[in-house]
Amino acid sequence: MHIQNVEFLISAVSPQQYPEPNLPEIALAGRSNVGKSSFINTMVNRKKIARTSSKPGKTQQLNYYQVEDWFYLVDVPGYGYAKVSKTEKAKWAQMLESYFSGRSNLTLALLIVDFRHDPSKDDQAMKAFFDHYNIPYFVIATKTDKVKKSQWNKHLSAIYKGLDLESIDQILPFSAETKEGREEAWEIIDAVLAG
Ligand code: GTP
Ligand code: MG
Repeated sequence: MHIQNVEFLISAVSPQQYPEPNLPEIALAGRSNVGKSSFINTMVNRKKIARTSSKPGKTQQLNYYQVEDWFYLVDVPGYGYAKVSKTEKAKWAQMLESYFSGRSNLTLALLIVDFRHDPSKDDQAMKAFFDHYNIPYFVIATKTDKVKKSQWNKHLSAIYKGLDLESIDQILPFSAETKEGREEAWEIIDAVLAG
């Protein structure tokens, strides 16, 4: 997929700042530092449109990108970052809840998990949340470049079981390093946008 026009729109802290819901919207969710911003950069082929960091907690607002005139892509702050106060965590949880439960044009959530590790409690909670609100989702298991091919099935199966998925085909192995899974991720997005 060749993307010509991708534009950063806004870092939104409150719903009043979200763009008009006149395009479909695809949102990322996942643990802090898992690779959400890197996923965006890989998908749109820009090295730095979404700011990445080796330190967790880089993305603190809902960062809106518009991809062509096709859809909004939303980089959501990561969860599970320990060095955040309880008050901040509660504020964050409330923002996510109101966003995911109330955004009318939300078409797909991409749950980004680390291919190397069993899903965390927060990952499980996020998946249960999508089920509860009937939000279509797909699991992107990123950082596959860190796992030997011979171990892939084992890791896929751990994620499948850990998240209690219906099918292992709901997981896409991905890497921002090698671009593994990029074309397949575009196919998933295309299919969802085509309705
Ligand atoms: P927050 O904004 O803090 O929630 O983090 P994030 O989920 O946006 O993670 P980010 O994309 O900033 O990546 C975190 C770190 O992981 C950075 O050092 C990235 O270079 C690295 N990283 C991301 N994706 C991959 C990948 O596929 N493979 C490898 N090896 N490293 C990756
Ligand atoms: Mg980020």
